[in-house]
Amino acid sequence: MTTAYVICRLEDIPSRQARGFLLARRGGAGEEIPWPVFIVRWGRHVFAYENKCPHQGTRLDWEKDQFMDGAGERLICGKHGALFELDTGRCIVGPCAGAALISIPVSVEDADICFLGVDLMEPGED
Ligand code: FES
Repeated sequence: MTTAYVICRLEDIPSRQARGFLLARRGGAGEEIPWPVFIVRWGRHVFAYENKCPHQGTRLDWEKDQFMDGAGERLICGKHGALFELDTGRCIVGPCAGAALISIPVSVEDADICFLGVDLMEPGED
């Protein structure tokens, strides 16, 4: 059975917007590894990615939760203006063109947005 973690409610993210979260994953020795991620919503569809540009490894949001371009149609790196497809995370313009963000399996269950198959730690959990 695949573990599902509820991250937030669908209505917490307006359509055509994205929201970042700082989660924590469990490392191989049980240690806590900070895991910045973001979720983008398009109507009933949601996509989730690690908040880590493929070319420099930095976060995309230059201001908190600012992941979308001006038209609200693509993801954007606030530092370099690189553009990424919403549904694939593939960079179509910018220094990492052709590379892709790391996607996270996500589903919507009873209006809860859930991550699937990841081993998350609760804050302060040992
Ligand atoms: S950090 Fe890679 S495009 Fe900005």
